[in-house]
Amino acid sequence: MISLGALAPDGDLVQVLYIVAFSLFIIGIRRGTHPTTAKQGNMIAAVGMAVAVVTTLALEGIGNWGLIIGGLALGTVIGAVASKRVQMTGIPQMVALYNGVGGGAVALIAWAEFRHELAIGAEIPLDTFVPILFSMVVGSVSFWGSGIAFGKLQGIISGRPVKLPGQQFVNALLLLGVIAACIVLGSDHASGPSQGLFIAVLVAAAALGILVVLPIGGADMPVVISLLNAFTGLSAAAAGIALDNVVLIVAGTLVGSSGTILTMEMATAMNRSVGNVLFAGFGGAPAGGAASGGEERPVTSIGAQDAAIKLAYADSVVIVPGYGMAVAQAQHAVKEMAGELEKRGVNVNYAIHPVAGRMPGHMNVLLAEADVPYEKLKEMDDINPEMPRTDVAVVIGANDVTNPAAKNDPDSPIAGMPIIEVSEAQQVIVIKRSLSPGFAGIDNDLFYEENTSMLFSDAKQAAADVAAEINDL
Ligand code: TAP
Repeated sequence: MISLGALAPDGDLVQVLYIVAFSLFIIGIRRGTHPTTAKQGNMIAAVGMAVAVVTTLALEGIGNWGLIIGGLALGTVIGAVASKRVQMTGIPQMVALYNGVGGGAVALIAWAEFRHELAIGAEIPLDTFVPILFSMVVGSVSFWGSGIAFGKLQGIISGRPVKLPGQQFVNALLLLGVIAACIVLGSDHASGPSQGLFIAVLVAAAALGILVVLPIGGADMPVVISLLNAFTGLSAAAAGIALDNVVLIVAGTLVGSSGTILTMEMATAMNRSVGNVLFAGFGGAPAGGAASGGEERPVTSIGAQDAAIKLAYADSVVIVPGYGMAVAQAQHAVKEMAGELEKRGVNVNYAIHPVAGRMPGHMNVLLAEADVPYEKLKEMDDINPEMPRTDVAVVIGANDVTNPAAKNDPDSPIAGMPIIEVSEAQQVIVIKRSLSPGFAGIDNDLFYEENTSMLFSDAKQAAADVAAEINDL
């Protein structure tokens, strides 16, 4: 039995336990790549984290048990309550908050380590001091930037891009100032770097985090959060180098690389560069009411009964879910509607756009929760060739990801974004409450096409009504 406080930090057992911990992280991530094994992957990674935490707490010299137990208890209560209470649509802001807290913790660890090195009084080795500076700056940017991202998604701060005069210039100046101050601090590493300057850099990095995220539109926050998540990971890895802690290095690198890959994937799926997301001030809170453009165009509006008839007599139906399905929590009703169709021998599939909704995998998670078989979820590139052979495409609370302007209008803000080509289906039914635009704030030509019928309703209500009507046929 290992007693707490018994392990030497550089002992073999500690290294073995850390290897076990990060191996479990890697296996967990690997299993997280498929919906059927994702829950198990989460549990495996959580066990890895428990091994890492317990091993670290068992190290020699760990003290102040009151604070440690108090912190663990507080974190456990907040985590447990949040996981029960937070709605699916609130996950992006919860991730922002957790990510920010991680970055803040890394910045505080860097500050504590800096003070510890100063207290020892000896020269701070450069290979310790550089990672301290890096984790302090990047952790602080991540904490404050994630805080702003959380505020925008939660509606505490306006979701519209907040632009101040000369902002890019101020940001560039701040960044240069932070780099210059870090060079000064680094060159003083042997003679006792100034604690005042260190704190000034911490504050400047905080201002940078706030000012970089404020001008970004609320709906781009998932990409920003993913990028900040990568920053937190890298800052944690740097803290691991400073503390000579291998599990922190590996975990931080895993978070840093996966966050970077996710950020690139999201930007690619929107046909935008990461630079465009960060600096273009795109989108903002979608406005209610009619879409921009002013001109009134006729649409074909139908009720649940007409929709049921179109669907029930089809051979193949493709359901295209989007953000509105998530808001309405319509996934169970949609599954019920699909079930009614399948009872009648209709072949039903689901078309999943990589950025449908507001976070990666949003639709997959919701449909998995409603027990939609995974093989029914078709990726965009697989379903698009099937569209001309599809009798009815049912768009449920999706908008931008079906907008033909992305293909046809080179001046459109979403020009070049790959879309689910529902217009190619024989008939299209669009379920949404109004003609309001989606996240990109632009009108959708799909609504006015000849083969499109609009069913104006809340997605959950509409899916339940259509299911009941099909059942009655
Ligand atoms: P959006 O284009 O945002 O459209 C969602 C539509 O849902 C709205 O037009 C809205 O119309 C409708 N809606 C809202 N509540 C509803 C309800 N209760 N019942 C029925 N409909 C409802 O969604 P999308 O097609 O999923 O596209 C996602 C957008 O987010 C893309 O532009 C994408 O680039 C962006 N984005 C996504 C991500 C990720 S990772 N997923 C990250 C960053 C940005 P009504 O108000 O008329 O009902």
